[in-house]
Amino acid sequence: MKLLLTAGLMLLLLSCSQGADSPRGFSLPEGNPAKGELVFRKYQCLACHSLKGFEDDSTEKQLPTPVRLGGNVSQIKTYAELVTSVINPSHKIAQHYVPSMVSDDQGHSKMRNYNDLMTVSELVDLVAFLQPQYQLVPYRRTDYPTFLP
Ligand code: HEC
Repeated sequence: MKLLLTAGLMLLLLSCSQGADSPRGFSLPEGNPAKGELVFRKYQCLACHSLKGFEDDSTEKQLPTPVRLGGNVSQIKTYAELVTSVINPSHKIAQHYVPSMVSDDQGHSKMRNYNDLMTVSELVDLVAFLQPQYQLVPYRRTDYPTFLP
């Protein structure tokens, strides 16, 4: 019975991921990370974000605590997720933050909307620049001492 339920659930999940709203078939042309860095600076992402190795004090800060981009993650950021973060930031609000810090009363992201400013090429390059900033670290296993006979 339990197995049946699990199987049913999996089918349900599978059919969801194949729906019209699924990221299936989503593909971007290859971006240029060097140009992406220029895009990152042009749109002053550092006003609200921190990114290791790209500190910039000349950008006026807009958040009391910047939202960290890049760094160690336990699950790789796909470019679909990164594109979504930029063009539809409220879709999934960054975790590990006090909600009121990163979103408004209605749960909308405080992130600036770039959809009428950024070209698609800029977006593609930006994502090519951002993605390698994330390093995948596997879940740390608790190491229990092994007792040898
Ligand atoms: C006005 C402040 C602001 C600016 C400017 C801004 N962001 Fe954000 N951004 C946020 C906030 C707040 C969040 C967290 C809420 C959310 O997930 O949308 C966020 C989240 C993100 C995330 C998801 C982070 C995660 O761990 O889930 C990405 C990626 C991102 N921003 C990229 C960018 C890029 C690239 C730019 C520049 C083109 C930019 N942001 C400019 C405020 C900003």
